[in-house]
Amino acid sequence: MITELSAVSDAVAISAPPSVHRPIAVVGAGAIMDVAHLPAYRAAGLPVVGVFDIDHERARAVAERHEIPTVYRDLAEVLADDTVEVVDIAVPAARQEEVATAVIQAGRHVLAQKPFAPDPPTGIRLVELAESMHTVLAVNQQLRFDEGMAAAHRMVELGWIGDITAFSITVDIWTEWSDWPWLLETERLEIMNHSIHYHDVVRWFLGEPAGVFCAAGRLPGQRAVGETRTISTYLYDSGVSAVVHANHTNDHGDNKAEFRIGGTSGAIRGTLGLLYDYPHGRPDTLEVHSTVLPTDGWLPYPVTTRWIPDAFLGPMASVLWAVADGQPLRSSGLDNLGTLRLVEALYTSIATKQVVALG
Ligand SMILES: NC(=O)c1ccc[n+]([C@@H]2O[C@H](COP(=O)([O-])OP(=O)(O)OC[C@H]3O[C@@H](n4cnc5c(N)ncnc54)[C@H](O)[C@@H]3O)[C@@H](O)[C@H]2O)c1
Repeated sequence: MITELSAVSDAVAISAPPSVHRPIAVVGAGAIMDVAHLPAYRAAGLPVVGVFDIDHERARAVAERHEIPTVYRDLAEVLADDTVEVVDIAVPAARQEEVATAVIQAGRHVLAQKPFAPDPPTGIRLVELAESMHTVLAVNQQLRFDEGMAAAHRMVELGWIGDITAFSITVDIWTEWSDWPWLLETERLEIMNHSIHYHDVVRWFLGEPAGVFCAAGRLPGQRAVGETRTISTYLYDSGVSAVVHANHTNDHGDNKAEFRIGGTSGAIRGTLGLLYDYPHGRPDTLEVHSTVLPTDGWLPYPVTTRWIPDAFLGPMASVLWAVADGQPLRSSGLDNLGTLRLVEALYTSIATKQVVALG
């Protein structure tokens, strides 16, 4: 069984970057850059040459913490730095278009945080611009690189559970939205800023659904304007079903973050360790029950890394491989248009209380 499991771990190790380094500049020195992007890049020895944030003091503090040599005064300074080949953007979605447009127009490769764009038309504009400039444009949907999820995807590719019949993700946690003051005012909160990871992953495993239905809720008196609980169901013509249930109003300390993938020849079950103690978390758990291998009951897969920061190396490594030798991105801007369309359909379903078809 060790040999079979190493077939999975070898594929998951795709996150390793190429040996030829390309200088990276980062735009946005907020919480996620500080606790996730930069520690992951540093651990892998990737050269981050400079940082820019409209909050200069924040950029300076982050530069000091992560030993980044240059703190730029504005975006023009970033783009005037001829050494920079890749720009890693982590700013609020509403700001991302202006930053990404300037970076792509300057001929630099882009890794953009999720949500890639506030709506599909904006995403399409960015993808078309990157195509016309021949630059790489990837989206940081790093759950596709999280060890437990990536290993589950590989097990499915290897045929261990046969064809997928059902996929469910259940997250029941407390999220302190006031840590991101700009999120308190947004009308599209939970799906656009959190569950977008799960919706992206369901697409990664199952492709585009024929239709979706979503119900959303809020806690009475909550400070955040947008939805804080969502139940999204997916319909596929094949009869496969998927559900993403995310509740951010559980303040009782019994966090849950589980996923389960049913198949014709087995099942995979796991937990997303990050959500048991955000942002420190713990490694995921993952088990497979397979009549193909076969396993004797549930076989544990030993996950040894975390969503934060470890999974954040994957999207950047994928960009660097695409730049180095044209390898396909695991999470491209083009692919992410499907995730943006799905998100849009879910919000339409909430508003209309109807199933929304995706053509
Ligand atoms: N797991 C994940 O993938 C994950 C987790 C958290 C946040 N995010 C995403 O990352 C992005 C940043 O989130 P955060 O938690 O760091 O938020 P944050 O509020 O802590 O930081 C955002 C930073 O962006 C800066 N900024 C705003 N507009 C800018 C501009 N035009 N140019 C340069 N800097 C600008 C702000 O000054 C601030 O320092 C958001 O899009 C968020 O959705 C992703």
